[in-house]
Amino acid sequence: EKNFLIAGSILSADLLNLERDVKEALDVGVDVIHFDVMDYHFVPNMTFGPAFLKAMRKKFPNAVFDVHLMVTPVTENIVDDYAKAGASWISFHPEACVHTERMLTHIQEMGIKAGIALNPSTPPQMLRYLWDKLDFVLVMTVNPGFGGQSTIPATLTKVSDIKAMAKAENRDILIEVDGGVKSSNIKEISSFGAEVFVVGSAFFGTADKKAALSSLHSALA
Ligand code: DX5
Ligand code: ZN
Repeated sequence: EKNFLIAGSILSADLLNLERDVKEALDVGVDVIHFDVMDYHFVPNMTFGPAFLKAMRKKFPNAVFDVHLMVTPVTENIVDDYAKAGASWISFHPEACVHTERMLTHIQEMGIKAGIALNPSTPPQMLRYLWDKLDFVLVMTVNPGFGGQSTIPATLTKVSDIKAMAKAENRDILIEVDGGVKSSNIKEISSFGAEVFVVGSAFFGTADKKAALSSLHSALA
């Protein structure tokens, strides 16, 4: 049986009750907490800084914190700030970083899982040269910047393309999908080869979080 992970994106949580919402997510059994870091440059929106992540880490010492950097440029300084603040996983977009191999190495050297995040129209071919430094690939299934959008169907083909590329080279790669995932499409998305599902509005945007998670789980079963 496959080991699927649900990553709750706090972008859709109640901003004035983030501690409460993250606690509830972890209590009901969400596997990963996904932090969307936006800088108004890479995407037309602005969100959480490292001080915020650090405060959350203090409250939730054992949670898996997945930091999705939608910032440009990605620098070692930025990565170090989020690493020190308590990130467990860090992904960044290659358009925002000239030396992707070096940045992935840097992230891994700090004991953090390193990922490349791909926009809907970004081709995955570069991954072929990065397997050794990659712990996961984050496939954007919407254009990054906002929660609550609908999955772009063509991005799912990319998930299976990446699986096939990896398989052809005897690699296995963990694929995370981000954008528009909900109980009505999660099963189909999993059939393309995704194993980590970022869920924002379809989890944090609902009143009954326990029910929201269990409908995602039963859809996957
Ligand atoms: C979009 C973010 C996503 C977002 C997903 O830029 O990367 O993580 O929160 O939200 P939903 O699940 O509502 O599409
Ligand atoms: Zn994200």
